[in-house]
Amino acid sequence: MSETKPKSEKRSWLIWVLVVIVVAVVTGVGVWYVTRPPPPANVLEIYHWWTSGGEKAAIDALVAVFEKEYPDVAVIQSPVAGGAGYVMKSVMKSLVMSGEAPDAFQLHAGYEMKPYVDAGYLEPIDDLWKSEGWESVIPPVVRDMVNWGGHYYAVPVNIHRANVLWYNKKILDKYGIDPATLNTWDGFFAACDKLKAAGINYPIAMGGQGKWEIAHALEQIFASEGIEFYQDLVNGKIDDPNNPKLVDALNTFKKYLNYVNPDYAALTWDQAVAKVIRGEAAFTIMGDWANGEFFVANMTFGVDYGAMPVPGTQGMYGLVIDTFEHPKGVKHPENSIRWLKVVGSKEGQDAFNPIKGSISARTDADMSKYGPYQRSAMQDFKNAKYMYPSIVHGSGAPEVFAAKFNDIASEFATTKDVSAAAKAIVDAISAAKSEYTKVWKLY
Ligand code: BGC
Repeated sequence: MSETKPKSEKRSWLIWVLVVIVVAVVTGVGVWYVTRPPPPANVLEIYHWWTSGGEKAAIDALVAVFEKEYPDVAVIQSPVAGGAGYVMKSVMKSLVMSGEAPDAFQLHAGYEMKPYVDAGYLEPIDDLWKSEGWESVIPPVVRDMVNWGGHYYAVPVNIHRANVLWYNKKILDKYGIDPATLNTWDGFFAACDKLKAAGINYPIAMGGQGKWEIAHALEQIFASEGIEFYQDLVNGKIDDPNNPKLVDALNTFKKYLNYVNPDYAALTWDQAVAKVIRGEAAFTIMGDWANGEFFVANMTFGVDYGAMPVPGTQGMYGLVIDTFEHPKGVKHPENSIRWLKVVGSKEGQDAFNPIKGSISARTDADMSKYGPYQRSAMQDFKNAKYMYPSIVHGSGAPEVFAAKFNDIASEFATTKDVSAAAKAIVDAISAAKSEYTKVWKLY
């Protein structure tokens, strides 16, 4: 006779089995939960060199537009101090070359992009240009500078102007100097003499910590020699150290240096602008990122300060263009593309540029968001007779020459040796000959 377990005993046995299974599953899930690999962080990491007061305020405004649109993405800004990117450029090269490119980084349009494009470090972003409709709102002169071999490799976030003479209006008013007299070098130096005689020993403020601040001034003096000369310069065609325009420009710079603060080599560009803000100097030649400094110092354009084209460059617009790109193999490709969309958007540009001092790279900017300096810059951009790409800010000439040019300008500021500098420039062009692959047609 077979023994059958009572029904209730069978049920409790089954319950035990079930309990064991449930406990095992729950524990397993718990262990998995605790030890599982972390989900990929939803991050965007960008590099830039915007660390001055105005620059920082501007990039924060652009990041705020991104954060509004993508609230789940944590933005890591990795700023590398040093105006014009003079420190960041080499940092970025080593990061990119070692496969550690951030999701996007600040890069000038033009020649500065070339080594990255040539080495295949950047993805072409033609599809993005198409889907965002950028071709119809970004002017050809800007488009061409981010297009290599028929492909777009970057998105411009702004158009800065290089050839701006900034002045402290209260000083000019006090000493009866009419800005209209400053549009020739003779008129400008006459004003400097007047201020010197009145006890302002160094009416021109200049920085020089990164050398480029000095080269920036010299570049604008080169532009004042005329567009033909500048075009030859960026096409690598200046081959005679006795070229009269080259020599004349260096002589003008030599004169200019007589009025410059002797501590220039210790100062950054924004510290030089601060001298004008404080009224210690009357003038500084700097790109219109300087407007961002006046802006954060609460100076009123037309009342406290003013701006005009560098003497001899009326009708010319020196182009400095910041861009971001999509490096190959980045850690957060989706966020990189999202960032580029914001960078190229009307909303992004109209948040960033009014603070930055630049004008939008887009023709459909909302003018009402911009202050009077930029509104006049927009007009000047529209009516410019000639535009010229900055060498110092990465666009106009091969990088090897641009780096050399900074050294030559800074050396000249100490030696003031015109023929040595003229020879050094011609030699630097000749040494970089094979790198001049772009043919600029500026007139
Ligand atoms: C950049 C500007 C920047 C300036 C000073 C230029 O090369 O294009 O965006 O504000 O350097 O740092």
